[in-house]
Amino acid sequence: MNVPDYIRHPRLISWVTEVAQLTAPDAVHWCDGSQEEYDRLCESMVASGTFRRLHPEKRPGSFLALSDPSDVARVEDRTFICSRRRSDAGPTNNWVDPREMKETLTKLFAGCMKGRTMYVIPFSMGPLGSPISHIGIELTDSPYVVVNMRIMTRMGRKVYDLLGENGEFVPALHSVGMPLAAGQKDVPWPCNPTTKYIVHFPEERSIWSYGSGYGGNALLGKKCFALRIASVMARDEGWLAEHMLILGVESPQGQKTYVAAAFPSACGKTNFAMLIPPKSFNDWKITTIGDDIAWIKPGPDGKLYAINPEAGYFGVAPGTSEKTNPNAMAAIARNTIFTNVAVTPDGDVWWEGMTKTPPPLLTDWQGKEWTPGCGRPAAHPNARFTAPAAQCPSIDKDWENPDGVPISAFIFGGRRSTTVPLVMQAFNWNFGVYLAATMGSETTAAAAGAVGEVRRDPFAMLPFCGYHMADYFNHWLQMGRSIYNPPRIFSVNWFRKDAEGNFLWPGYGENMRVLKWVVERVHGNAFAIESPLGWMPRYEDMDWTGWHDITQHQFYELMSIDRELWKKEILLQEELFIRVYDQLPKEFILMREMLLSQLWRSPEKWDMEHDA
Ligand code: GTP
Ligand code: SPV
Ligand code: MN
Repeated sequence: MNVPDYIRHPRLISWVTEVAQLTAPDAVHWCDGSQEEYDRLCESMVASGTFRRLHPEKRPGSFLALSDPSDVARVEDRTFICSRRRSDAGPTNNWVDPREMKETLTKLFAGCMKGRTMYVIPFSMGPLGSPISHIGIELTDSPYVVVNMRIMTRMGRKVYDLLGENGEFVPALHSVGMPLAAGQKDVPWPCNPTTKYIVHFPEERSIWSYGSGYGGNALLGKKCFALRIASVMARDEGWLAEHMLILGVESPQGQKTYVAAAFPSACGKTNFAMLIPPKSFNDWKITTIGDDIAWIKPGPDGKLYAINPEAGYFGVAPGTSEKTNPNAMAAIARNTIFTNVAVTPDGDVWWEGMTKTPPPLLTDWQGKEWTPGCGRPAAHPNARFTAPAAQCPSIDKDWENPDGVPISAFIFGGRRSTTVPLVMQAFNWNFGVYLAATMGSETTAAAAGAVGEVRRDPFAMLPFCGYHMADYFNHWLQMGRSIYNPPRIFSVNWFRKDAEGNFLWPGYGENMRVLKWVVERVHGNAFAIESPLGWMPRYEDMDWTGWHDITQHQFYELMSIDRELWKKEILLQEELFIRVYDQLPKEFILMREMLLSQLWRSPEKWDMEHDA
């Protein structure tokens, strides 16, 4: 094998050699991460039909890829945590004995890259050389993965300088699982329609992914490394790897506060991270550090510092518009890869929610002719864009600061049409951990399977925790004990609806009003009253400037706590507790009892209008 002379890492070279022997690619390409390499790969994918080049003026440097209809989202039921002991993976993860899984995978990977090129992708999660960053090497037979990884991570030659002769890296092996026989013609989106495995070996910190070319199944730096493997590293080393956005709030007085927020997949992280405040708040500024993942480590002063390990956005396209997220629209104006969106006759993109009136004629995400009212969605609900983070107008000046940014508050939010109030602050750290651990959310198209069912999604990490979920709760409780003055913890719900199914809260930019109260609470500058569940703002504690038609009654409707619904909610929490009983923190049982007794002494429908 022809190894470039700047690679001096024997363990890495022998791993690549072994994998090449097993998978039998026609060629091995060591990626250098250069623009020329990126352009060449994009051109070759245009030639092969995987990519379509979009309109050179309307979407310069941008491409469209349409996936196989069987390969459109993460596959949670094919995702495995193969720790040595089953109990370490816990009851919420799929588990197979690692030796047995290695055997299965070795058989699948044997010869699986025939007729293809194997690419070696060196990447850093986080700024190169930051004490919070970590390095990975992905081997893949998908050029689509290579160009996406170049946007999503710091990829290229410099990573080898950091690795030197013996540096640590996470080995991540990926194949679309579709070898080509001699002379066999390739398809635009190769994948294996029947066999998929997304597998993690937490003790050896390695990843094997087979059969899918889509998103988190294939861009292994993202969910596989930065969440599942990193959560295990974080537990062992005393830090946090979280499914969180990070944003900065700058007050009119110039005070900067950083907040990290966890919402489940397709529940508004990208929108919140790039929030543009309403006009009446134009002396407040929101800046973006990250929109999906946060790595958070205690700094020398004992406070928590966060980085965004990614360098790009792999964002949900449908619903993104000049109205809902102008920053994202600017970020995807050029140099962007679109997957499973619709395309206009002149080669621009479109998706549901992008404009009020759809274009008269489109090619949909399956390559079929589409007209308004034809009854099919034009874009797949999980259609995504891959765009460089630096192109976002709201990007924070410290987004690549190797020391990270100090976190003052954690916000947790699910998609709940009933039950959960617009905003509340946890009574203390432990109650905050309880609140996050018992969070529920209606499922979305980001994962294959049913959409719209409420499930427990603790910390928005249910599909992403690389070990026992209840052990993860203990880790969070332990972090609170070990840091001085830990961040305040809040819960939000933008998705509450009335009986007719209309959202009670306008969301998007108006979320600034909630965020302002959060930030002021952090600094001890906002009032709150004690509800049965946590601290809550009264109507007069919120800043309503520029918004004259929300009545006190409407606000208290959004904030109300229905005792009967909460009794059911606590029964659902109990279900989760019983599921993870073997590691459940004993604190949780006490906190549940506290909540119950608080609910019990409150009226059937608690709201501030009547209780205060
Ligand atoms: P992943 O990338 O899958 O982890 O998800 P994400 O949390 O970044 O998702 P994203 O921000 O792309 O969520 C998009 C979905 O959230 C769309 O359905 C939006 O309509 C909806 N959404 C975002 N913000 C709001 C809001 O403030 N109110 C309401 N009602 N919907 C919102
Ligand atoms: C999510 O599903 O939470 C995502 C998209 O961010 S993917 O990278 O495909 O997991
Ligand atoms: Mn995500």
